[in-house]
Amino acid sequence: MSESLELIRGEEHPKAPALSKPRAFIKSYGCQMNVYDAERMGDILALEGYDLADSADAADLVLLNTCHIRERASEKVFSELGRLRTLKKARGAEGHDMLIGVAGCVAQAEGREIMRRQSAVDLVVGPQSYHRLPDLLRRARNGRVAETDFPVEDKFAELPPLSEQRIRQRGVAAFVTVQEGCDKFCTFCVVPYTRGAEFSRPVAQVVADVERLARAGVREVTLLGQNVNAYHGEDERGRTSSLALLIRRLAEIPGISRLRYTTSHPADMNDDLIAAHREVPALMPYLHLPVQSGSDRVLAAMNRKHGAAHYLEIIGKVRDARPDIALSSDFIVGFPGESDADFEATLAIIRAVDYAGAFSFKYSRRPGTPGAERQDQIDEAVKEKRLARLQGLLEEQRQAFNAASVGRIADVLIEKKGRHSGQIAGRTPYLQAIHLDGPEELIGQIVPVEIVATGPNSLAGRRVNHGSSAGECPT
Ligand code: SAH
Ligand code: SF4
Ligand code: F3S
Repeated sequence: MSESLELIRGEEHPKAPALSKPRAFIKSYGCQMNVYDAERMGDILALEGYDLADSADAADLVLLNTCHIRERASEKVFSELGRLRTLKKARGAEGHDMLIGVAGCVAQAEGREIMRRQSAVDLVVGPQSYHRLPDLLRRARNGRVAETDFPVEDKFAELPPLSEQRIRQRGVAAFVTVQEGCDKFCTFCVVPYTRGAEFSRPVAQVVADVERLARAGVREVTLLGQNVNAYHGEDERGRTSSLALLIRRLAEIPGISRLRYTTSHPADMNDDLIAAHREVPALMPYLHLPVQSGSDRVLAAMNRKHGAAHYLEIIGKVRDARPDIALSSDFIVGFPGESDADFEATLAIIRAVDYAGAFSFKYSRRPGTPGAERQDQIDEAVKEKRLARLQGLLEEQRQAFNAASVGRIADVLIEKKGRHSGQIAGRTPYLQAIHLDGPEELIGQIVPVEIVATGPNSLAGRRVNHGSSAGECPT
């Protein structure tokens, strides 16, 4: 996933001369939380007087918001920095300065290494410190700076308030980070080291953000956290609020019609949250609940804190609460010591659950994690074969899920114009992308749409009048 952020001309500094504004370009890799962070860095840079750049070529500042989760993700950073270095030299020869900054999880994990290996980098800033960007940028103009401590202050309280104009630019579906960091220490994963200990934003802060989003036209909010269902933010009366309570509060905000949350850990999937799936209509019937493996032996070695049977039990409870719920998951194949039988157990759990979607990866040996130290690493060729089989099965399930939607009527949140003229595009409650003919004025509305066909990446639909959506969907 990558995103470049547009900074809005003159929004916060209406008196600044537009032509002389410096330009910033942010490139983001990795998870949705990084997308959120990149948006917030964009907000900060807009306030600092930066203007839009849609590529690095014309930029005075380039920020790479990096991901460390797998080897390939980290390597991308160094190759991108190589290209930027050449660009910086060329711009320097023309008399222009260009600052290069590295943010995100690689900055946190390998800040020193980046400074050592790539002299063109002026600034390194970890994911917990980017609220300090204005000061860091000023310092970086006089010499290289690195900021990778976990600061004592609450980053979120220090960030500038969301700007209505920028919210409107981003559209009617928004992300809000409510929880960050992780105390689980799965033995394959770098996140506890790059994002630090679990932290939950106070309820009032989240409510204020979502109210702002709603006032600027947002209809759907996805609550983000590395372990979002471990949320335990403090409410106005000093009590601890669970994610379920937070969801109930947010569902009452006028204009907010859809809520989602990701990513959750099975061990934190408590009854309270499951009940919210039954009782809160705004909570969408689509749950991403990563299991990683179907083998108890591998799950224990991964330190996942639950077995396959427990996971299936949770899925059963969630389905009892919300029978139309669809599920997705993350899988890792080739964790050290994974046998053929372990891998078959993963295929078995996939068959037992029947997923609507999933992400799957070959195990990647990450420095500093316990998994990386193990002597029983799996051969790349074996990982490759297992991944292909696993993805074949998951793809069959995804296609079957989409095919079963054809003929049904779904409430679609219209998010944007479609690719062709006269077309609009949106998402079903199951996060399926769908396009249909219709006027742009419908953007931001939830309309009943009959699903008429499935394509490789999206569905095709046809608007129906309200009367026909009242009946039960055919099954
Ligand atoms: N907090 C989430 C996951 C965040 S990372 C959870 O607990 O589910 C997103 C996904 O990347 C993980 O679910 C896992 O499937 C994958 N992943 C993490 N570390 C990995 C590694 N070392 N190799 C391969 N995949 C990995
Ligand atoms: Fe990583 Fe495990 Fe924490 Fe998820 S729960 S972020 S996989 S350590
Ligand atoms: Fe990557 Fe950091 Fe997210 S390692 S997946 S950007 S939390």
